[in-house]
Amino acid sequence: MVVFMTITATAAGSVMASPPVVKAAYWLSWVENFPPSAINTSFFTHIYYAFLMPNDVTYKFNIENSTLSNFTTTLRHKNPPVKTLFSIGGDGSDSTIFTRLASEAGSRKVFIDSSLEMARKFGFDGLDLNWEFPESPKQMQDLGRLFDEWRLAIDNEATSTGQAHLLLTASVYYSVEFFIYGDYRKYPVDSISRNLDWINAMSYDYHGSWDTSLTGAHAALYDPKSNLSTSYGLKSWLQAGVPSSKLVMGLPLYGRSWTLKDPKLHQIGSPGAGIGPGDLGILTLSEVDEFNRKNAGTVTFDTETVSIYSFVGTTWIGYDDALTTTTKIGFAQAHGLRGYFFWALSFEREWEITRQGNITIYQNSKLF
Ligand SMILES: *[C@@H]1O[C@H](CO)[C@@H](O)[C@H](O)[C@H]1NC(C)=O
Ligand SMILES: *[C@@H]1O[C@H](CO)[C@@H](O)[C@H](O)[C@H]1NC(C)=O
Ligand SMILES: *[C@@H]1O[C@H](CO)[C@@H](O)[C@H](O)[C@H]1NC(C)=O
Ligand SMILES: *[C@@H]1O[C@H](CO)[C@@H](O)[C@H](O)[C@H]1NC(C)=O
Ligand SMILES: *[C@@H]1O[C@H](CO)[C@@H](O)[C@H](O)[C@H]1NC(C)=O
Repeated sequence: MVVFMTITATAAGSVMASPPVVKAAYWLSWVENFPPSAINTSFFTHIYYAFLMPNDVTYKFNIENSTLSNFTTTLRHKNPPVKTLFSIGGDGSDSTIFTRLASEAGSRKVFIDSSLEMARKFGFDGLDLNWEFPESPKQMQDLGRLFDEWRLAIDNEATSTGQAHLLLTASVYYSVEFFIYGDYRKYPVDSISRNLDWINAMSYDYHGSWDTSLTGAHAALYDPKSNLSTSYGLKSWLQAGVPSSKLVMGLPLYGRSWTLKDPKLHQIGSPGAGIGPGDLGILTLSEVDEFNRKNAGTVTFDTETVSIYSFVGTTWIGYDDALTTTTKIGFAQAHGLRGYFFWALSFEREWEITRQGNITIYQNSKLF
């Protein structure tokens, strides 16, 4: 842990340890025409490789893939260099693999040992678990055990090899508790606080194709009418006891679209008749820009939710722009959060939003 602390002088001249800011993004290995060499690393501290999965029977990673070593080597030699982590799971993965492997000590050990071996073999600086999602209190308890054992293995490996500790992070639900669908369940906060370097709260997807009856700001900072908001989710983590220095806010570089029931009713919460353009109504911000330009969409800033929406005819799209994103980063900073991450690289045009996020806020780690 100490390895990752920096010593910063405060304005008052005293010296205190503060963990360095995290400005991260996920790189999608399946996206074409966006190789690791295209990443402008001056906006980031950490880049995540998405995604890897262990074998569903052995729980080991049997991966021989030059994409991995190309990714870590390219990013380590960039100016400036960034740290790399590989992310395990993802929303398209079979979550029952995690359910099974986390439930027994033997399979947890096989999985953990293999993950460490993979990280070293391909030159990663750390690991990230993106189990979407544990579905019961029992699975949450297993997740807590997995993190305990993973931390121990990382500490032991660092001691025995003399190398820097691998980072251990997890991408988690936007809020500490699941109260909307499935059984009520809560993340193992003590284990998370004890064992992880930080968590990436997926502060988005509050509304979408699964409920098209009303339009919605899918990554609203605030929502006066419900608990589906980034401010609610992040505060729930803090109130549950996760240190602010271990909490990282998610920022979406994509929008979600609806078809309006009545083109004259085009606000947030207006009646929807289905999804709009994009696969499952999802559009990258480059696609949103293109749609707005081609169709002369009306772009509106919504102060209540701190989000943007555009509409034309019966098409409605909710998303974030540079202004709403930097406002959210300001919120994160005001709550002392460790930083932010973007989902995902390659979704925006010309680094417009990442650049703005980087230059406006979190410039200086002295702020922490
Ligand atoms: C390596 O991984 C990438 C992305 O995960 C995949 O597109 C590619 O097919 C893999 N190559 C091999 C040789 O397995
Ligand atoms: C990254 O972006 C910065 C700021 O826009 C620019 O000065 C720099 O040349 C870019 N680097 C690369 C490698 O594109
Ligand atoms: C990564 O792959 C690209 C494209 O195949 C290649 O041009 C580049 O040299 C490779 N970089 C490293 C460090 O292996
Ligand atoms: C939001 O959550 C709080 C508890 O965290 C609860 O008291 C409140 O009723 C919830 N509000 C809504 C609108 O569901
Ligand atoms: C991003 O922020 C860092 C830290 O303040 C700064 O050193 C770097 O120059 C910034 N990058 C760009 C391209 O502005």
